[in-house]
Amino acid sequence: MAMLEVKNLTKIYSKGTGSQTVALNGINFTLEEGEFVAIMGESGSGKTTLLNMVSTLDNPTEGEVYIGGKNIGQFKNNELASFRRNELGFVFQDFNLLDTFNTKDNILLPLVLSGYSYDKMKKKLMPLSEALGIETLLNKFPYEISGGQKQRVAIARAMITNPKLILGDEPTGALDSGSADIIMKTFEKINTSGQTIMVVTHSVRAASFANRVLFIKDGKVYNEIYKGEKSNNEFMETISKTQFMMRGADYEK
Ligand SMILES: Nc1ncnc2c1ncn2[C@@H]1O[C@H](COP(=O)(O)OP(=O)(O)OP(=O)(O)O)[C@@H](O)[C@H]1O
Ligand SMILES: [Mg+2]
Repeated sequence: MAMLEVKNLTKIYSKGTGSQTVALNGINFTLEEGEFVAIMGESGSGKTTLLNMVSTLDNPTEGEVYIGGKNIGQFKNNELASFRRNELGFVFQDFNLLDTFNTKDNILLPLVLSGYSYDKMKKKLMPLSEALGIETLLNKFPYEISGGQKQRVAIARAMITNPKLILGDEPTGALDSGSADIIMKTFEKINTSGQTIMVVTHSVRAASFANRVLFIKDGKVYNEIYKGEKSNNEFMETISKTQFMMRGADYEK
């Protein structure tokens, strides 16, 4: 089944001066349930814009997004908030943790908002924090833990509602390569347990953990490659070559 269908999605930002930026230009792609996909593309190619449309944070100029077969453009405001909270998980570059809450409360926040009882929350919290290796950090505050640990906490918060689709915008962007690997391995593990993941990244190394890489250029999918049976190192090479070819195509214009 298709988990995510992006159909003819266009986003045009209009500025007061009358000038326009076409950030997405009729982009089309599908993610099947259980896929782990990395989105790559140069700065300004529309990656964050795409995530904002898929995550219902902003409205497209044209086109549709279907998640689990539902057209998210047709939700009413109150449906949208609960859909976003229950069916989607977000992980950002800057973690977005609340500094006045400890780690545990940060993770539980989406459940608190959904009105869960304390007992029910505790049952969900422990196995998840153990799986992510953060069970000893639950009483600490975000400023007391490392960037890589903060990101694992942010992943726990994104996963606590058991969302169908997990979205990341440069989730390893603020991390050194060792911590980035741990985060990407964490996504790999989550994906193996059945969750669909779509992660934007500039890092070839981070992208090599995914099963498919979509390259965005001029507001469209320009190319896509599958990992297949390749090792991470082999896939990194293919990703780099594809990036190189895409740049070469620019010079030929
Ligand atoms: N709110 C906005 N108003 C006007 N223009 C915008 C807005 N957000 C993005 N843009 C423009 O749309 C284009 C795509 O931006 P977007 O942030 O999606 O790129 P990106 O691929 O995420 O880049 P990066 O890799 O640097 O994060 C850019 O030209 C950007 O300047
Ligand atoms: Mg961006």
